[in-house]
Amino acid sequence: MTKYVLTPLTARRGGPIQGRVRVPGDKSISHRALIIGALTVGETRISGLLEGEDVINTSKAMRALGAKVERTGEGSWRIHGVGVGGFSEPSAALDFGNSGTGCRLVIGAVAGCPITATFDGDASLRSRPMRRLLDPLTRMGARAIKAGDGDRLPIKLQGARDAIPIIYEPPVASAQLKSAVLLAGLASPGETVVIEAEATRDHTEKMLVHFGASLRVQSHGDGGRRITLKGQPELEPAPVVVPADPSSAAFPLVAALIVPGSELILEGVMTNPLRTGLFATLREMGAAIETLEAKTDGGEEIADLRVKTSVLKGVDVPAARAPSMIDEYPILAVAAAFAEGTTRMRGLKELRVKESDRLKATADMLSVNGVKVEIEGDDLIVHGKGRAAGGGTVATHMDHRIAMSALVMGLASEQPVKVDDSAFIATSFPDFAGMMRSLGADLS
Ligand code: S3P
Repeated sequence: MTKYVLTPLTARRGGPIQGRVRVPGDKSISHRALIIGALTVGETRISGLLEGEDVINTSKAMRALGAKVERTGEGSWRIHGVGVGGFSEPSAALDFGNSGTGCRLVIGAVAGCPITATFDGDASLRSRPMRRLLDPLTRMGARAIKAGDGDRLPIKLQGARDAIPIIYEPPVASAQLKSAVLLAGLASPGETVVIEAEATRDHTEKMLVHFGASLRVQSHGDGGRRITLKGQPELEPAPVVVPADPSSAAFPLVAALIVPGSELILEGVMTNPLRTGLFATLREMGAAIETLEAKTDGGEEIADLRVKTSVLKGVDVPAARAPSMIDEYPILAVAAAFAEGTTRMRGLKELRVKESDRLKATADMLSVNGVKVEIEGDDLIVHGKGRAAGGGTVATHMDHRIAMSALVMGLASEQPVKVDDSAFIATSFPDFAGMMRSLGADLS
């Protein structure tokens, strides 16, 4: 085996963050466009696809399962689907690299097909929980023939010969889990029902409807949803335009907020309310984020956002907001360090099972750079002083969002901030460093 070589990167304080950019396509929508496109009969065209490593791994998996997948230009892809239940058995293990979303959604899609496939990933993905997924999929008729310790990857899954529709209440707020059950439900007769106590991102639901599935969403309790999918639809190809990823926009956005004298326009950012918890929280903190032009495209809300350097204050972030900003806590923690006062982020249990233990990695990122931070139960508490000393080296633990958050912090810290490895940024935002430099950031 060749030795893995780290790619460190350092951010230094410099001039303002200025300009107008469009960050890459949304990762969640990109995965879903490839997977659901592969389950249609006919040709689906996708534009604006995120060409990061995570999504590329999903495209390879779709090819290995029998779909014809072609790249026709930058961000433009064409898929010839095999139809619901039509996947063929792959000849080798499907390797999802770092991607929990790609892996879990495809496990769901395969669980409804009468084939056997092996799922694998890198050390980070191999450490992430999969039992939560295998529980409902087993009820639907799939079976894990082999699995790693604690039901983790690598997993050899035998899909259901005749998938069984279920009524399922996920034990955690997880769009991946919900989506896996819905994708497995496509192949089953009758109605598959997912009842979520807290609404999570609804891109799977929206895209299934976009491709002609019969799916009903009703509100359930306080903030929850009941989703009913009619099985065995004939999905019809439909063009997909992938909007810019709000989770990626978060990095230049917070950079502009904390680097003095900045003004930035972010184009075409998806503003689906189930994804915009960060923007709401930052606005509560006093951030100047202006919506310039809002519209709907391909069933998703999008807007241009204008951001200016702002004086921020600490806030209390309720646990109920976690599903709509689950990936944004590391970068919110950076903004909180540059705010005046304490920010308490509540209910972050799920952060412990992301690409890294993100709760700990975020706290370490701040404390190694002189910011006072505590973890209390599942809460993260940042004592903002309007500044960060910097000067630390951040351990990124194979986690793209820790790497990008730390680098943004370095753009406004008194001393440079170094990350031990920037390679994983390529999973979601391949040209992060180039785009940030084009806005004036000092990264080298
Ligand atoms: C995602 C769901 C979230 C999120 C991930 C993308 C999705 O994970 O953290 O980056 O596309 O469904 P969970 O569903 O595990 O919370």
